[in-house]
Amino acid sequence: MQITYYGNDILRQECKDVVVDGNTLKKAEEMVRALDKYNGIGLAGPQVGLSEKIIVIRLNPEDEPIFIFNLRLIDYSEEKNVIEEGCLSLPGIYEKVVRPEKVHVKYQDASGEWHDKELEGIMARVFQHEGDHLYGVLFIDHISAVKKRLLKKKLDNIRKGNIDIEFIPEEDR
Ligand code: CO
Repeated sequence: MQITYYGNDILRQECKDVVVDGNTLKKAEEMVRALDKYNGIGLAGPQVGLSEKIIVIRLNPEDEPIFIFNLRLIDYSEEKNVIEEGCLSLPGIYEKVVRPEKVHVKYQDASGEWHDKELEGIMARVFQHEGDHLYGVLFIDHISAVKKRLLKKKLDNIRKGNIDIEFIPEEDR
């Protein structure tokens, strides 16, 4: 699996729900391999060319990956916080993003079982970032127009496919 970059239409489309079966699990496992290869902490379907509600998260390399299918973001806290974000589809771009501190989510795990959770901290942040991907939203959509203008050159480069080699694992170059 290769990463899709900013400029690829699939990143702007809404994803379809999935049936949690062997085929879907295989895709999710392959996504974990891509996550490892690119040293990411979260990856959503569109970032590997799948317009499907599949997300994998692994905050630390020693953790077990978390498989998230058919994520629903139910509710958000009024309190917000500011955390710097990056995205494998936007290599080399890191910006502070304001988002709700806590989030209420529902999703299916690898056995198809539904979970209903209140998240906070870094998990709340990653779920929101990845959840956005399922609806065609990128983290740069949450920053000011002024800041986005400052990124124009970098964004144009990514859109044209001029990805800095340092962001591409050797086997994909
Ligand atoms: Co992302």
